[in-house]
Amino acid sequence: MDIVELNKLKDEAIASISAATDNDAVEAIRIKYLGRKGLLPALMKGMKDVEPSERAAMGIAANELKNAVIDGVARRKSELSATDEPKQAASFDYSLPGRWQRIGSMHPITMIIEEAIRIFGKLGFIVAEGPDVETAYNNFEALNTPAHHPSQDERDTFWLHTGELLRTQTSPVQIRTMKEQKPPVRIITPGRCYRRDTTDATHSANFHQIEGLYIESDRKVSLADLKSTMAYFAQEMMGDQVKVRFRPHFFPFTEPSVECDFTCHVCGGSGCRVCKQSGWIEIAGAGMVDPRVLERVGYDPEITSGFAFGMGIERIAMIKYGVNDIRLLYENDMRFLSQF
Ligand code: PHE
Repeated sequence: MDIVELNKLKDEAIASISAATDNDAVEAIRIKYLGRKGLLPALMKGMKDVEPSERAAMGIAANELKNAVIDGVARRKSELSATDEPKQAASFDYSLPGRWQRIGSMHPITMIIEEAIRIFGKLGFIVAEGPDVETAYNNFEALNTPAHHPSQDERDTFWLHTGELLRTQTSPVQIRTMKEQKPPVRIITPGRCYRRDTTDATHSANFHQIEGLYIESDRKVSLADLKSTMAYFAQEMMGDQVKVRFRPHFFPFTEPSVECDFTCHVCGGSGCRVCKQSGWIEIAGAGMVDPRVLERVGYDPEITSGFAFGMGIERIAMIKYGVNDIRLLYENDMRFLSQF
């Protein structure tokens, strides 16, 4: 090989590198020239046979070939990787499904509470709240419930070491509200209550109630006011065709006291599995506020009157959504909750 052939080899190398279209092709050219068994090492080995007069010029030309290949390979590789990116962007598949963010839903108990607040809100009731840890006075005594009453029993009530308790009903919020404000009063109080019940399909040691309290001092409030309020609520919550009835009952803090039933929204009152063939579903305890309760909060029972009611939120949720086991409302099973 002479110097002319060597320079031609260099031109060929440069041309083939710039013609290469991917990294693998560039790498193959590098190996062809610079690899252990490549053209350049062979050329160097042959130097000893070159005429001594030409050896220096051949050496310089061989070195130029080597550098041309090294530089050319490096440049071509970086050119190819620069054009890689637009290639990747162009291969984005617009038909792939998007990244899905699961959207949560309200808990059925929260849904009933919100709906009840909306319905009673239209009648002018506002929300009042009280603490879960109550005094025995607010939970029992002020509500005309004497110390020997069965609901004070240790078996029913969670007593704390302080002598306080976990409220067994939302009724103590009646007391808290009346102690703080003069009539008229129109409140509802959604919240948690606690009883030492053994958990089963219809009982839970903690559950929710909504209490309602309506007090006037410039007119006589009657049982008819209570009934129309419950009827309005029943129809808004369960459907237009739903009716209410009162059955006599006893609560220490109302007189007279009633149990309030709704006609079954599933069968319309003819009897089915949901209402256990009776046509009626028990929803609330209620009555006219006992004068002794009014006295205890400093109201004058001669001119003040009103009604109160309390209902179980779980019960309404279970009836409205067809849930047959109260425990489903507390287990946080996504298969259950995501249906709402
Ligand atoms: N607090 C009663 C209960 O838990 C319900 C009730 C509330 C009854 C208000 C009358 C008036 O059973």
